Amino acid sequence: MQIFAHRGSSGTRPENTLPAFAEAVRIGVDGIELDVQLTKDQQVIVMHDETVDRTTDGKGAIIDKTLAEIKKLNAGSWFDERYSSTKVPTLKEVVDLLVARNYRGILGIELKTDKEAYPGIEEKVSALMTSQQWPFTYWYSSFNMDTLERIYALEPQTRIDFIMDKADVPPLVFEKTEIQGIHPNIEWVWANAEEIAAFDLAIRPWTVNKKEDVKRCIDCQVTGIFTDFPEMAMDIKRSY
Ligand code: G3P
Ligand code: CA
Repeated sequence: MQIFAHRGSSGTRPENTLPAFAEAVRIGVDGIELDVQLTKDQQVIVMHDETVDRTTDGKGAIIDKTLAEIKKLNAGSWFDERYSSTKVPTLKEVVDLLVARNYRGILGIELKTDKEAYPGIEEKVSALMTSQQWPFTYWYSSFNMDTLERIYALEPQTRIDFIMDKADVPPLVFEKTEIQGIHPNIEWVWANAEEIAAFDLAIRPWTVNKKEDVKRCIDCQVTGIFTDFPEMAMDIKRSY
């Protein structure tokens, strides 16, 4: 079972920041997940929410701020004062870090277009990711099927996975042949536990943070999990 560091090692470092990704590399995870959004000046940054309110000392929507404005924000103190110098990274800064740390796992890029449309984000992300060869594998995911269709048109060779909440119905996904896997809410896995092993698609639920749930996921034979505590999950994977 693959262990993905959800927003980096976000249980032990400020989510979606360079310290969180560096820690995931140190742990030796199978995959790293991050979320991308677009600034007012069309720069691709790594942040989960559509506003900077929760994870920085600023306020307001990302789409109303330039990258220079976002770079002035403190993206670490909300988590722990030790990270007060931590900034919001661009996607380019994250991939540069992964290259510098010789990361050989998977980078899962979630295109966060389910609440804000961010026209052109697929082209911008694809332009960066196809600009050179990387020592790691990357793929795309989104809750937004239109986004997945757009990124598939740009990069049919790159794996795309559909993210589902617990109420979503998988047959809709199966009609889209380009989808290679699903990322369901963990509650969906518990509700369908008996059938998981027979599914044709890879199944990687989110967000699996309890030790007992990591073990249950191994028992259910899911392909992988997203967790905020990848060190804990890697330890269980080695010993269970
Ligand atoms: O890909 C799974 C997971 O990242 C989706 O949820 O809200 O944490 O982006 P969220
Ligand atoms: Ca995500």
